[in-house]
Amino acid sequence: MDEPQTRGAAVKPADESAGGGSVTQKKELTIYLDGEFLPESEAKVSVFDHGLLYGDGIFEGIRFYNGRVFRLEEHLDRLWDSARSICLEIPVSREEMTEALLATIRQNGLRDGYIRQIVTRGVGNLGLNPAQCKRPSIIIIAATIALYPEEVYRNGLTIVTCATRRTNAAALNPAVKSLNYLNNVMARIEANLAGADEALMLNDAGNVAECTADNVFIIKKGQIFTPPISAGALRGITRSVAFDIAAELGIRITETDITRHDVFVADECFLTGTAAEVIPVIKADGRVIGTGKPGAISTRMIARFRELVREGGTPIYS
Ligand SMILES: Cc1ncc(COP(=O)(O)O)c(C=O)c1O
Repeated sequence: MDEPQTRGAAVKPADESAGGGSVTQKKELTIYLDGEFLPESEAKVSVFDHGLLYGDGIFEGIRFYNGRVFRLEEHLDRLWDSARSICLEIPVSREEMTEALLATIRQNGLRDGYIRQIVTRGVGNLGLNPAQCKRPSIIIIAATIALYPEEVYRNGLTIVTCATRRTNAAALNPAVKSLNYLNNVMARIEANLAGADEALMLNDAGNVAECTADNVFIIKKGQIFTPPISAGALRGITRSVAFDIAAELGIRITETDITRHDVFVADECFLTGTAAEVIPVIKADGRVIGTGKPGAISTRMIARFRELVREGGTPIYS
Protein backbone atom coordinates (compact mmCIF):
# COMPACT_ATOMS: atom_id res chain seq x y z
CA MET A 1 0.00 0.00 0.00
CA ASP A 2 3.01 2.28 -0.09
CA GLU A 3 3.36 2.49 -3.84
CA PRO A 4 3.46 5.88 -5.54
CA GLN A 5 0.18 7.32 -6.78
CA THR A 6 0.72 6.71 -10.46
CA ARG A 7 -1.74 5.30 -12.96
CA GLY A 8 -1.35 1.57 -13.26
CA ALA A 9 0.31 1.19 -9.90
CA ALA A 10 -1.36 0.67 -6.57
CA VAL A 11 -2.74 3.84 -5.08
CA LYS A 12 -1.63 4.90 -1.66
CA PRO A 13 -4.72 5.33 0.48
CA ALA A 14 -5.39 8.70 1.98
CA ASP A 15 -6.28 9.06 5.66
CA GLU A 16 -8.56 6.09 6.28
CA SER A 17 -9.69 3.46 8.69
CA ALA A 18 -11.17 0.76 6.51
CA GLY A 19 -8.96 -0.17 3.65
CA GLY A 20 -5.46 -0.82 4.92
CA GLY A 21 -4.15 2.51 6.13
CA SER A 22 -4.46 4.03 9.57
CA VAL A 23 -6.48 6.74 11.18
CA THR A 24 -4.36 9.84 11.49
CA GLN A 25 -6.21 11.97 14.01
CA LYS A 26 -3.82 13.76 16.33
CA LYS A 27 -6.32 14.03 19.17
CA GLU A 28 -7.41 10.84 20.89
CA LEU A 29 -10.79 9.61 19.69
CA THR A 30 -13.62 8.96 22.10
CA ILE A 31 -14.84 5.40 21.67
CA TYR A 32 -18.17 3.90 22.69
CA LEU A 33 -17.66 0.58 24.45
CA ASP A 34 -20.58 -1.21 26.07
CA GLY A 35 -22.40 1.89 27.23
CA GLU A 36 -19.33 3.95 28.17
CA PHE A 37 -17.40 6.63 26.34
CA LEU A 38 -13.66 6.08 26.73
CA PRO A 39 -10.52 7.67 25.29
CA GLU A 40 -9.13 5.37 22.59
CA SER A 41 -6.10 4.48 24.72
CA GLU A 42 -8.46 3.07 27.35
CA ALA A 43 -11.01 1.42 25.05
CA LYS A 44 -9.98 -2.22 25.37
CA VAL A 45 -11.68 -5.58 24.93
CA SER A 46 -10.77 -8.87 26.56
CA VAL A 47 -8.30 -11.26 24.91
CA PHE A 48 -11.02 -13.87 25.51
CA ASP A 49 -13.56 -12.03 23.35
CA HIS A 50 -14.56 -14.41 20.57
CA GLY A 51 -14.51 -11.51 18.15
CA LEU A 52 -10.74 -11.64 18.54
CA LEU A 53 -10.32 -15.38 19.08
CA TYR A 54 -12.56 -16.51 16.20
CA GLY A 55 -13.67 -13.49 14.19
CA ASP A 56 -17.04 -14.21 15.74
CA GLY A 57 -19.03 -11.03 15.47
CA ILE A 58 -20.43 -8.57 12.96
CA PHE A 59 -19.82 -5.02 11.85
CA GLU A 60 -20.95 -2.12 9.72
CA GLY A 61 -19.07 0.74 8.12
CA ILE A 62 -21.25 3.84 7.94
CA ARG A 63 -20.62 7.34 6.61
CA PHE A 64 -21.86 10.67 7.80
CA TYR A 65 -21.73 13.80 5.71
CA ASN A 66 -22.51 17.38 6.57
CA GLY A 67 -23.83 16.52 10.04
CA ARG A 68 -26.11 13.70 8.85
CA VAL A 69 -25.68 9.93 8.86
CA PHE A 70 -26.11 8.50 5.38
CA ARG A 71 -28.55 5.59 4.98
CA LEU A 72 -28.44 4.74 8.69
CA GLU A 73 -31.62 2.64 8.64
CA GLU A 74 -30.27 0.41 5.86
CA HIS A 75 -27.03 -0.13 7.77
CA LEU A 76 -28.94 -1.02 10.94
CA ASP A 77 -31.17 -3.40 8.96
CA ARG A 78 -28.08 -5.16 7.63
CA LEU A 79 -26.44 -5.26 11.07
CA TRP A 80 -29.51 -6.87 12.57
CA ASP A 81 -29.75 -9.30 9.64
CA SER A 82 -26.09 -10.30 10.09
CA ALA A 83 -26.76 -10.81 13.80
CA ARG A 84 -29.82 -12.94 13.18
CA SER A 85 -27.96 -15.07 10.65
CA ILE A 86 -25.19 -15.95 13.12
CA CYS A 87 -27.55 -16.28 16.14
CA LEU A 88 -26.07 -13.27 17.89
CA GLU A 89 -28.42 -11.27 20.03
CA ILE A 90 -27.55 -7.58 19.96
CA PRO A 91 -27.87 -6.55 23.61
CA VAL A 92 -29.49 -3.15 22.94
CA SER A 93 -32.56 -2.00 21.06
CA ARG A 94 -32.30 -0.40 17.65
CA GLU A 95 -33.22 2.95 19.20
CA GLU A 96 -30.47 2.61 21.82
CA MET A 97 -27.98 1.66 19.13
CA THR A 98 -28.96 4.68 17.06
CA GLU A 99 -28.56 7.00 20.04
CA ALA A 100 -25.18 5.46 20.94
CA LEU A 101 -24.00 5.92 17.38
CA LEU A 102 -25.10 9.55 17.14
CA ALA A 103 -23.72 10.30 20.60
CA THR A 104 -20.32 8.83 19.62
CA ILE A 105 -20.12 11.20 16.66
CA ARG A 106 -21.13 14.12 18.89
CA GLN A 107 -18.54 13.16 21.49
CA ASN A 108 -15.90 13.47 18.76
CA GLY A 109 -17.29 16.75 17.43
CA LEU A 110 -17.38 15.46 13.86
CA ARG A 111 -19.66 16.48 10.98
CA ASP A 112 -18.09 14.39 8.19
CA GLY A 113 -16.60 10.98 8.76
CA TYR A 114 -16.87 7.23 9.07
CA ILE A 115 -18.32 5.02 11.78
CA ARG A 116 -17.13 1.52 12.50
CA GLN A 117 -19.85 -0.26 14.42
CA ILE A 118 -18.92 -3.65 15.83
CA VAL A 119 -20.79 -6.27 17.82
CA THR A 120 -18.55 -9.08 19.06
CA ARG A 121 -19.75 -12.39 20.43
CA GLY A 122 -18.26 -11.32 23.75
CA VAL A 123 -16.05 -12.95 26.34
CA GLY A 124 -15.97 -16.74 26.43
CA ASN A 125 -13.38 -19.41 27.04
CA LEU A 126 -10.80 -20.77 24.62
CA GLY A 127 -13.28 -23.14 23.04
CA LEU A 128 -15.13 -21.80 20.03
CA ASN A 129 -18.61 -22.59 21.31
CA PRO A 130 -20.49 -19.28 21.32
CA ALA A 131 -22.76 -20.64 24.05
CA GLN A 132 -19.86 -19.85 26.41
CA CYS A 133 -20.14 -16.14 25.63
CA LYS A 134 -22.59 -14.52 27.97
CA ARG A 135 -22.90 -11.01 26.55
CA PRO A 136 -21.95 -9.51 23.18
CA SER A 137 -19.85 -6.34 23.26
CA ILE A 138 -20.67 -3.21 21.30
CA ILE A 139 -17.93 -0.95 20.00
CA ILE A 140 -18.52 2.25 18.03
CA ILE A 141 -15.66 4.22 16.53
CA ALA A 142 -16.27 7.54 14.79
CA ALA A 143 -13.33 8.84 12.79
CA THR A 144 -12.46 10.65 9.60
CA ILE A 145 -11.76 8.80 6.41
CA ALA A 146 -10.61 9.33 2.83
CA LEU A 147 -9.89 5.93 1.36
CA TYR A 148 -8.40 7.18 -1.90
CA PRO A 149 -6.97 10.56 -2.87
CA GLU A 150 -9.24 12.78 -4.99
CA GLU A 151 -7.18 12.25 -8.16
CA VAL A 152 -8.14 8.54 -8.18
CA TYR A 153 -11.78 9.56 -8.57
CA ARG A 154 -10.69 11.54 -11.64
CA ASN A 155 -8.18 9.02 -13.05
CA GLY A 156 -9.52 5.63 -11.98
CA LEU A 157 -8.27 2.50 -10.25
CA THR A 158 -6.55 -0.62 -11.52
CA ILE A 159 -7.87 -4.01 -10.46
CA VAL A 160 -6.54 -7.52 -10.76
CA THR A 161 -8.39 -10.83 -10.57
CA CYS A 162 -7.20 -12.79 -7.58
CA ALA A 163 -6.90 -16.55 -7.19
CA THR A 164 -8.66 -16.41 -3.81
CA ARG A 165 -12.32 -17.19 -4.48
CA ARG A 166 -15.13 -15.43 -2.62
CA THR A 167 -16.43 -17.81 0.02
CA ASN A 168 -19.16 -20.12 -1.12
CA ALA A 169 -22.46 -19.20 0.53
CA ALA A 170 -22.73 -22.75 1.82
CA ALA A 171 -19.45 -22.28 3.72
CA LEU A 172 -19.77 -18.71 4.94
CA ASN A 173 -22.35 -16.50 3.30
CA PRO A 174 -20.81 -13.25 2.01
CA ALA A 175 -24.11 -11.57 2.87
CA VAL A 176 -23.11 -11.73 6.54
CA LYS A 177 -20.87 -8.78 7.34
CA SER A 178 -18.88 -10.72 9.87
CA LEU A 179 -15.66 -9.93 11.70
CA ASN A 180 -14.11 -12.81 9.77
CA TYR A 181 -12.69 -10.95 6.77
CA LEU A 182 -9.70 -13.17 6.10
CA ASN A 183 -11.14 -14.20 2.72
CA ASN A 184 -11.13 -10.53 1.68
CA VAL A 185 -7.77 -9.87 3.34
CA MET A 186 -6.18 -12.72 1.35
CA ALA A 187 -7.56 -11.18 -1.85
CA ARG A 188 -6.29 -7.76 -0.82
CA ILE A 189 -2.81 -9.21 -0.27
CA GLU A 190 -2.89 -10.55 -3.84
CA ALA A 191 -3.78 -7.10 -5.16
CA ASN A 192 -0.94 -5.58 -3.17
CA LEU A 193 1.55 -8.16 -4.45
CA ALA A 194 0.38 -7.54 -8.02
CA GLY A 195 0.73 -3.77 -7.63
CA ALA A 196 -3.00 -3.20 -8.23
CA ASP A 197 -5.39 -0.99 -6.31
CA GLU A 198 -8.09 -3.60 -5.74
CA ALA A 199 -8.73 -7.31 -6.22
CA LEU A 200 -11.57 -8.67 -8.32
CA MET A 201 -12.97 -11.73 -6.54
CA LEU A 202 -14.68 -14.54 -8.44
CA ASN A 203 -17.08 -17.12 -7.06
CA ASP A 204 -16.75 -20.90 -7.38
CA ALA A 205 -18.39 -20.78 -10.82
CA GLY A 206 -15.74 -18.34 -12.03
CA ASN A 207 -18.12 -15.39 -12.25
CA VAL A 208 -17.42 -12.01 -10.73
CA ALA A 209 -18.62 -11.69 -7.13
CA GLU A 210 -17.23 -8.36 -5.92
CA CYS A 211 -14.02 -6.64 -4.88
CA THR A 212 -12.54 -6.94 -1.38
CA ALA A 213 -14.73 -4.23 0.11
CA ASP A 214 -16.73 -2.95 -2.84
CA ASN A 215 -19.44 -4.01 -5.28
CA VAL A 216 -18.60 -4.08 -8.99
CA PHE A 217 -20.50 -2.50 -11.88
CA ILE A 218 -19.75 -2.53 -15.60
CA ILE A 219 -21.27 -0.45 -18.38
CA LYS A 220 -21.82 -1.69 -21.94
CA LYS A 221 -23.61 0.26 -24.65
CA GLY A 222 -25.18 2.66 -22.19
CA GLN A 223 -26.49 0.02 -19.77
CA ILE A 224 -25.20 -0.88 -16.32
CA PHE A 225 -24.70 -4.48 -15.18
CA THR A 226 -23.76 -5.82 -11.75
CA PRO A 227 -23.54 -9.33 -10.27
CA PRO A 228 -26.58 -10.53 -8.30
CA ILE A 229 -26.24 -11.08 -4.55
CA SER A 230 -26.36 -14.82 -5.28
CA ALA A 231 -23.00 -14.47 -7.07
CA GLY A 232 -21.38 -13.82 -3.69
CA ALA A 233 -21.73 -10.07 -3.39
CA LEU A 234 -22.56 -8.24 -0.21
CA ARG A 235 -25.87 -6.39 -0.53
CA GLY A 236 -24.03 -3.09 -0.49
CA ILE A 237 -25.80 0.02 0.72
CA THR A 238 -23.85 2.11 -1.82
CA ARG A 239 -24.81 -0.51 -4.42
CA SER A 240 -28.46 0.26 -3.73
CA VAL A 241 -27.72 3.99 -4.01
CA ALA A 242 -26.22 3.26 -7.45
CA PHE A 243 -29.53 1.59 -8.40
CA ASP A 244 -31.41 4.67 -7.22
CA ILE A 245 -29.15 7.02 -9.18
CA ALA A 246 -29.40 4.91 -12.34
CA ALA A 247 -33.21 4.99 -12.08
CA GLU A 248 -33.12 8.74 -11.60
CA LEU A 249 -30.83 9.21 -14.61
CA GLY A 250 -32.94 6.87 -16.73
CA ILE A 251 -30.09 4.37 -17.18
CA ARG A 252 -31.05 0.72 -17.30
CA ILE A 253 -29.37 -1.39 -14.61
CA THR A 254 -29.45 -5.20 -14.61
CA GLU A 255 -28.28 -7.80 -12.11
CA THR A 256 -26.65 -10.60 -14.07
CA ASP A 257 -23.69 -12.95 -13.94
CA ILE A 258 -20.55 -11.22 -15.15
CA THR A 259 -17.34 -12.87 -16.32
CA ARG A 260 -13.79 -11.48 -16.46
CA HIS A 261 -14.30 -11.21 -20.22
CA ASP A 262 -17.30 -8.92 -19.65
CA VAL A 263 -15.11 -6.70 -17.50
CA PHE A 264 -12.32 -6.63 -20.09
CA VAL A 265 -14.67 -5.58 -22.90
CA ALA A 266 -16.78 -3.18 -20.84
CA ASP A 267 -17.01 0.45 -21.91
CA GLU A 268 -16.73 1.52 -18.27
CA CYS A 269 -16.40 0.00 -14.83
CA PHE A 270 -16.90 1.42 -11.35
CA LEU A 271 -16.97 0.16 -7.78
CA THR A 272 -19.22 1.15 -4.90
CA GLY A 273 -18.63 0.96 -1.15
CA THR A 274 -19.25 3.04 1.94
CA ALA A 275 -15.56 3.79 2.34
CA ALA A 276 -14.60 4.11 -1.37
CA GLU A 277 -17.97 5.67 -2.37
CA VAL A 278 -18.38 5.48 -6.18
CA ILE A 279 -15.01 5.09 -7.86
CA PRO A 280 -14.05 4.39 -11.49
CA VAL A 281 -11.86 1.49 -12.67
CA ILE A 282 -9.74 1.95 -15.78
CA LYS A 283 -7.73 -1.26 -15.99
CA ALA A 284 -8.42 -4.91 -15.19
CA ASP A 285 -5.73 -7.59 -15.41
CA GLY A 286 -3.68 -5.30 -17.61
CA ARG A 287 -6.54 -4.68 -20.09
CA VAL A 288 -7.50 -1.06 -20.53
CA ILE A 289 -11.23 -0.60 -19.92
CA GLY A 290 -12.96 1.58 -22.53
CA THR A 291 -10.83 4.61 -23.29
CA GLY A 292 -8.68 4.13 -20.20
CA LYS A 293 -10.33 7.14 -18.59
CA PRO A 294 -13.39 7.23 -16.32
CA GLY A 295 -16.39 7.16 -18.69
CA ALA A 296 -19.35 9.49 -18.96
CA ILE A 297 -21.81 7.33 -17.00
CA SER A 298 -19.36 6.62 -14.16
CA THR A 299 -18.60 10.32 -13.94
CA ARG A 300 -22.31 11.18 -13.73
CA MET A 301 -22.82 8.49 -11.09
CA ILE A 302 -20.00 9.93 -8.98
CA ALA A 303 -21.29 13.48 -9.33
CA ARG A 304 -24.86 12.54 -8.38
CA PHE A 305 -23.65 10.38 -5.49
CA ARG A 306 -21.75 13.36 -4.11
CA GLU A 307 -24.87 15.49 -4.27
CA LEU A 308 -27.07 12.83 -2.69
CA VAL A 309 -24.88 12.20 0.34
CA ARG A 310 -25.16 15.84 1.32
CA GLU A 311 -28.91 16.02 0.82
CA GLY A 312 -30.44 13.56 3.26
CA GLY A 313 -29.69 11.43 6.26
CA THR A 314 -30.25 11.18 10.00
CA PRO A 315 -29.37 14.47 11.74
CA ILE A 316 -26.60 14.17 14.33
CA TYR A 317 -26.81 17.50 16.11
CA SER A 318 -30.52 18.34 16.26
C1 LIG B 1 -17.12 -7.40 0.95
C2 LIG B 1 -17.80 -6.11 0.72
N1 LIG B 1 -18.49 -5.91 -0.41
C3 LIG B 1 -19.12 -4.75 -0.67
C4 LIG B 1 -19.10 -3.71 0.24
C5 LIG B 1 -19.83 -2.45 -0.07
O1 LIG B 1 -20.97 -2.34 0.77
P1 LIG B 1 -21.48 -0.92 1.28
O2 LIG B 1 -21.80 -0.12 0.09
O3 LIG B 1 -22.68 -1.24 2.10
O4 LIG B 1 -20.38 -0.34 2.08
C6 LIG B 1 -18.39 -3.86 1.43
C7 LIG B 1 -18.32 -2.78 2.41
O5 LIG B 1 -19.11 -2.71 3.30
C8 LIG B 1 -17.74 -5.09 1.69
O6 LIG B 1 -17.08 -5.28 2.83
